[in-house]
Amino acid sequence: MKVFSEKKEINTLVDAYKAERQTIGFVPTMGALHKGHLALIEKAIQDNDAVIVSIFVNPTQFNNAEDLEKYPRTLDEDIMLLETLSKDILVYAPTVDDIYEGKTTSEHFDFDGLEFEMEGKFRHGHFDGVATVVKRFFEIIKPDNAYFGEKDFQQLQIIKKLAEKYDIPVNIIGCKIHRETSGLAMSSRNTRLKPEYIKVAPVIYKRLKTAKTFFGTKSANWVTKWVENQFKNNELLKLEYFTIAEVDTLKPLKRKSKNKTYRAFIAVYADDIRLIDNIALN
Ligand code: PAJ
Repeated sequence: MKVFSEKKEINTLVDAYKAERQTIGFVPTMGALHKGHLALIEKAIQDNDAVIVSIFVNPTQFNNAEDLEKYPRTLDEDIMLLETLSKDILVYAPTVDDIYEGKTTSEHFDFDGLEFEMEGKFRHGHFDGVATVVKRFFEIIKPDNAYFGEKDFQQLQIIKKLAEKYDIPVNIIGCKIHRETSGLAMSSRNTRLKPEYIKVAPVIYKRLKTAKTFFGTKSANWVTKWVENQFKNNELLKLEYFTIAEVDTLKPLKRKSKNKTYRAFIAVYADDIRLIDNIALN
């Protein structure tokens, strides 16, 4: 397994792959890898000649200093996990300075309104931070294909918009959500959940599935109220938002239209840990 920490090393590698017309697949991560990450990497291995995985806890996308500080950092375990997939994976684990060159700030982006919905409302500056780092990675790695999970569906749509707006020649490939057997969406943050929260957190996905069933016959407003009510007396899980939105604009659904596609999105606090999830409705 080759692990690089400097972009100039990656540049040299990328130039060599390009000269040989080899395709590059890229999977950006913040580490603390789980099966959800590994599924993206397996897909990248199937589709490409070379695969680069970045492991970088990006400071500019954290709107909460404590969340950044407590974010799990497990590089050695991550590398061992990656080795179980393939020893040919190239890992790029840069320092903050290698990426930000002494100026750890975000660029400001206009994503045609996608950035103002849901996560954008509750995590100010988050998507500017995500887009800043992903754009830099795209410039350094020049991938043919880049893989993102539907777990962060809004992020996936924003990255597609980033590639489109900046004419970046990369295919953005979305991959389905991986779950624990309990239904809880896998997340690096799950490792911080205390046992009593692990026990109750699967209810988040349960509610999404019931919401999907109701969506067949009820209005978006009715379903939203129902979910909000279900969380009202929950001592452990605090609902931040539940929204049904159209997938291209991410605008909240007012009236259903037959030829549009909708998803339900949810954010819940379990203790001080913020969990997000979503489900396709039609
Ligand atoms: P991170 O949370 O580490 O996630 C890396 C990638 O794995 C993202 O595309 C995310 O959507 C995907 N992923 C996480 N959990 C998943 C699950 N349960 N099922 C499927 N895919 C899952 O997202 C980020 O890092 C960062 O914002 C990043 C894009 C790396 C920029 O810093």
